[in-house]
Amino acid sequence: MTVREALARATAWLEERGVPEAGHDAASLLGQVLGRPRLELPLSYTRELRPAELAAYEALIERRAAREPLQYILGTQAFLDFEVKVDGRVLIPRPETELLAERAVTLGRASGAARVADVGTGSGCLAIAAAMALPDAHVWATDASEDALNLARENAARLGVGDRLTFLRGDFLTPLAEAGVVVDLLVSNPPYIPRGELAGLQEEVRDHEPRKALDGGADGLDAYRALAAGARSVLAPGGHIALELGYGQAAAVRALLATGGFIDIEVSPDFAGISRVMTAHLSTPEGQMGPGTSEARP
Ligand SMILES: C[S@@+](CC[C@H](N)C(=O)[O-])C[C@H]1O[C@@H](n2cnc3c(N)ncnc32)[C@H](O)[C@@H]1O
Repeated sequence: MTVREALARATAWLEERGVPEAGHDAASLLGQVLGRPRLELPLSYTRELRPAELAAYEALIERRAAREPLQYILGTQAFLDFEVKVDGRVLIPRPETELLAERAVTLGRASGAARVADVGTGSGCLAIAAAMALPDAHVWATDASEDALNLARENAARLGVGDRLTFLRGDFLTPLAEAGVVVDLLVSNPPYIPRGELAGLQEEVRDHEPRKALDGGADGLDAYRALAAGARSVLAPGGHIALELGYGQAAAVRALLATGGFIDIEVSPDFAGISRVMTAHLSTPEGQMGPGTSEARP
């Protein structure tokens, strides 16, 4: 069977199984088997596939037909200007989260943040982005999942920032508070899907991504409650927070942050115009200065 024939057959099979963007995925997976970029496949259309290549390709196509996400099968996902390894232990980083990373880094640079925490780090994408963009900062990354932390650790080491990251396992802010860590910038893309909506998610997400990465409790806001209520124990006075939001959650999260002592609360939209990133900073008790001020950093 030639490359062209294998591609046509796999595309038709994925289409039959209802896989979105079947042609793209069939080509990406054949590129993976042949060790060539997807867009170069037309150069080899007439080449005969060896039996081992065909068997390997069919195995990958079967995984995709079972609606395993393409990124898990390929094993990587691009995030900003780097790639993280991904598999079923972690959420696949989304394009919206790049907006959160950019907002957090902008805040971190402007305030001179030297201590950063990423809560619910998953693949480590946000913590790694912060460590890369803020070369003098130390970053603590937490997750409730040891499996996720293992992969995040691997990603950080491979991308050369492992020595400036500390990984802690536990419930949201608890491991930071227990370790006595105080940070200038807190970033988090927490689980925020209301539990009742999980069953209606796309199969790739519902059946393959870690439930713990998605489930935000009954109203989707459990993580925000924990973060807003506990922030004072780990965030320096005047410290900044940057959060990703789920659809329709801006008003509720704003109220939680205000109650938790945050001021200057701002929201940025994503590509679809949905309120997606919320930033704020912790009010300072009178007389105390926040991070980046002359008093905090002589
Ligand atoms: C939406 S994912 C985000 C992953 C990654 N930060 C990203 O943006 O791609 C949420 C992460 O929070 C973690 N998580 C869920 N519940 C948690 C909890 N109670 N305490 C700490 N981490 C938790 C999950 O394991 C998951 O890795």
